[in-house]
Amino acid sequence: MDSELFSLSGKTALVTGGSRGIGLAVAKGLARHGADIAIIARDKSRLEAAKGQIEKSSNKKVWTFSFDFENTKAIEALFEEVVSTTGGVDILVNCAGTTARAPAEEVELETWNRVVGVNMTAVFAISQAFCRHRKQVGKGGKIINIGSLMCHGARPTTTAYAASKGGLLMVTRALAVEWAKYHINVNAIGPGFITTDLTAKLHADEDFNRWVLSRTPVERWGQPEDIAGAAVFLASSASDFVTGQILYVDGGWVAAL
Ligand SMILES: NC(=O)c1ccc[n+]([C@@H]2O[C@H](COP(=O)([O-])OP(=O)(O)OC[C@H]3O[C@@H](n4cnc5c(N)ncnc54)[C@H](OP(=O)(O)O)[C@@H]3O)[C@@H](O)[C@H]2O)c1
Repeated sequence: MDSELFSLSGKTALVTGGSRGIGLAVAKGLARHGADIAIIARDKSRLEAAKGQIEKSSNKKVWTFSFDFENTKAIEALFEEVVSTTGGVDILVNCAGTTARAPAEEVELETWNRVVGVNMTAVFAISQAFCRHRKQVGKGGKIINIGSLMCHGARPTTTAYAASKGGLLMVTRALAVEWAKYHINVNAIGPGFITTDLTAKLHADEDFNRWVLSRTPVERWGQPEDIAGAAVFLASSASDFVTGQILYVDGGWVAAL
């Protein structure tokens, strides 16, 4: 195997939600394959801790930006700040995400707007800024959206999250089709159930945990590190002819009846 195929040397990757969970594991994976890394999240102390971890495991440059993706109108200015600080972004990983669990008939529209805003609208806005940047430098790029099993199906109490992730899959496909002419590949990863802060309550619930284990063919929860390999593939030249796809990293969940 040509080791250059998966090399990200000389590239800079921006990972939203890179301060913990899946985003941090993806940022570490991309850095280990040679990319300098910029991460965005709200909590500054977690950002600094993540920066230390990525630097220690890779010796690559790491920049941090504190930002709340609920503030969709400020995303363009944020992206400009990232570009002027880092010198340019070649790879955009949209991983920052949020959820809210409640019976559909009780979901406040404010909650709906927050979840759809962070998980889908903000991804679209930062992708627009990324596309304009790549056009300006005259080079293509890679966008990787972190989807979910809920790009594929839903379960009760997840309406806003399922809508946001289902929509994110179509954002992925629509941008892939439209931006192929700019050599920007747009793909998604659909993680199965992964143990992170987002799923801590579900993991601690015995019935839910039993259901996940019985429903997942490989009979375990995923770890954040399980997502890193797919991200390296979709960020590297190994995936240059892959666009508009979702790669489920789910222990077989979607394949099983
Ligand atoms: N865990 C799973 O089983 C699973 C499965 C499928 C898909 N996913 C998706 O994977 C992504 C990461 O999930 P995770 O499980 O790793 O979650 P997590 O551990 O809760 O991490 C979420 C990350 O996003 C950041 N973030 C959250 N809201 C934000 C906001 N409004 N503005 C800026 N940053 C924000 C968080 O930092 P701050 O809180 O400091 O802002 C953190 O860095 C999400 O898109 C999620 O939907 C997760």
